[in-house]
Amino acid sequence: MEFVNLHLSLEAGILTIKVNRPTKLNALNIKTMEEVSAAFDKVYDEDDIKGVILTGEGEKAFVAGADIKEIGELNPMSARKFAEKGQETFAKIENCGKPVVAAVNGFALGGGCELAMSCHIRLAAENARFGQPEINLGIIPGYGGTQRLPMLIGKSKALELMLTGDMINAEQALQLGLVNAVYPQAELYEKAQAMVQKIITKAPIAIGQIVDSVNAFYNSEDGYQTEANAFANCCKTEDFKEGTAAFLEKRKPEFKGK
Ligand code: COA
Repeated sequence: MEFVNLHLSLEAGILTIKVNRPTKLNALNIKTMEEVSAAFDKVYDEDDIKGVILTGEGEKAFVAGADIKEIGELNPMSARKFAEKGQETFAKIENCGKPVVAAVNGFALGGGCELAMSCHIRLAAENARFGQPEINLGIIPGYGGTQRLPMLIGKSKALELMLTGDMINAEQALQLGLVNAVYPQAELYEKAQAMVQKIITKAPIAIGQIVDSVNAFYNSEDGYQTEANAFANCCKTEDFKEGTAAFLEKRKPEFKGK
């Protein structure tokens, strides 16, 4: 696929996916959502991609929501498809076996907040703003927000944000556990790079097995069983032998993803 609304760049194993519609505050129109889905197909398929940073172009917006112009044209039938397709795309991000860090560089509203929540870790710039303002349009979050927001910040606060449509700032998001850390805008991208760089030095199969095991709980599966199976899967790998041997030999492990 040719990427028009996303800018992709690969450096040292880290794929940066930048939503690139700054004149519309990086709003996710259908074309952009298709590109996000295709970009994550690449992440799944290509071995030279070890981890991902997801961010928005400019210093004003990460993603200011789904494209309200397109939303206005939905009917009940197309709306269901719209939500299901979006949920499928964001599940692809959440279940990715490679680390995905959101660098939230400004407004993360509606579908933008949902996009950030589908990433494994969220780092925010000081000017970031979060919210689920769909109620102001007479609709509700449709890309998983009603599920992921309570998982991340608890039911009461999630209901408050969704029912009032209010925005919160980066510091409030940090206090609620919606983001992992807050940095000055100028430092955000390098902090995200450092985070992904650190994770991708670890054993790749174990990274994926941790993501699967943690997600199992939130997907109403038997998380303990998933964890036991995942633990056993790791113990089949060459990286497990390398990790334990390196510790005993007092050297750094060299993981190969095998
Ligand atoms: N969908 C489509 N276009 C959007 C958009 C969205 N979600 N968010 C912003 N834009 C567009 C605006 O229409 C405007 O386009 P124009 O210049 O062609 O008129 C441009 O982006 C700049 O936005 P603007 O509203 O002028 O910026 P602002 O600084 O005054 O306000 C926001 C910023 C984020 C507060 C405001 O844009 C906003 O409330 N956006 C919608 C957020 C939302 O409800 N998201 C959930 C959607 S389900």
